Amino acid sequence: MKILLTGGAGYIGSHVAAALMSSGHEIVCFDNLSNSDATVMDRLEAITDTAIPLVKGDIRDGDALRQVLNEYAVEAVIHFAGLKAVGESVAEPIKYYDNNVRGTLTLLEAMRDCGVKTLVFSSSATVYGEPQYLPLDENHPTSATNPYGRTKLMIEQMLADVAAADPEWRVAILRYFNPVGAHDSGLIGENPNGIPNNLMPFISRVAAGRLDELSVFGSDYDTPDGTGVRDYIHVVDLADGHVAALDAITRTDQALSTWNLGTGQGYSVLDMVEAFVRVNGVRIPYRIAPRRDGDVASCFASPERAERELGWKASRDLDAMCLSSWNFERLLAMRNAD
Ligand code: NAD
Ligand code: UFG
Repeated sequence: MKILLTGGAGYIGSHVAAALMSSGHEIVCFDNLSNSDATVMDRLEAITDTAIPLVKGDIRDGDALRQVLNEYAVEAVIHFAGLKAVGESVAEPIKYYDNNVRGTLTLLEAMRDCGVKTLVFSSSATVYGEPQYLPLDENHPTSATNPYGRTKLMIEQMLADVAAADPEWRVAILRYFNPVGAHDSGLIGENPNGIPNNLMPFISRVAAGRLDELSVFGSDYDTPDGTGVRDYIHVVDLADGHVAALDAITRTDQALSTWNLGTGQGYSVLDMVEAFVRVNGVRIPYRIAPRRDGDVASCFASPERAERELGWKASRDLDAMCLSSWNFERLLAMRNAD
């Protein structure tokens, strides 16, 4: 298929681009580069042996979207483009509603205008709010505790309405748990601007000496070692889940499908530190700090529906996640030194 990846130059989009190419799809990336840079396309070319077109544009620009959908005869869209920092969304909610909600609405209008009705959307486990039971299955009630989460919920609701109104749409909502790790090549991975909010990139930068120590946010949760438990999923497994979901919605007669993409396995912050140190032979100085506002004790998926309906299951373990993160970080340091 010919597939448009909004936000295709970003962390998850670039890994999905590589996975789609190796499954024989043709792709075009559309990104405003607000949280990525165009050099990722050269590295994707090195991985896939193919030059992937990048159109620089904003999803709030309907004309630019219509042009790319028509010019490349796009048949399906995978929609990653969005802002994703929870704290920033609390401080700047208008920016988040504008970028994420208005951006998605503009994308849906452009798709409708161009007759493209197959869409995979990047949602998040954040839509489950405070877990009422674990593991979280897709029927768990949804709620949001911050503007970022509310944008994901609003978009999910928009997609449900669109799919209900026109049964020709084929929409997949993918609720990611905690994507970590990097491509085996070490050429693409997660490289956030500024000080990372998320655990794994923070750990990598402490290991690299770019940050002094990790603050472990809370050690008094009701978890085996008192630190927060999450469902970390290797980004390459996550990428394969997109290929499986796209394939499934092109064969189903259901207009809307929702799948968790997680492993079903929870690891604590200290489990992550221990594994990173063990497999990479590095030091991660850390100290226990107060809890971070808005964090829950534990969050992990039931991946059963995706296994059953997509025939997809995450296969890469925690060691592989830690090894690939560190490999990416080291190669990044070497590239930056050049
Ligand atoms: P990312 O920031 O690396 O990638 C997002 C890409 O979208 C970036 O390249 C950015 O430049 C682009 N973008 C942002 N706004 C845009 C706009 N208005 N027009 C065009 N391009 C725009 O983030 P990621 O981690 O790859 O996340 C991808 C998606 O997955 C996001 O929607 C995010 O909310 C969702 N998600 C991520 C995680 C995670 O932990 N990484 C978890 C759950 C859900
Ligand atoms: N943590 C630390 N120190 C840090 C960073 C994180 O101890 O410097 C802890 C957190 O308290 C939490 C765990 O590490 O217990 C994971 O935190 P992350 O920030 O990496 O991930 P979250 O689970 O908080 O959130 C992530 C994304 C959200 C998304 C959610 C579910 O950031 O956007 O996963 O998909 F909604």
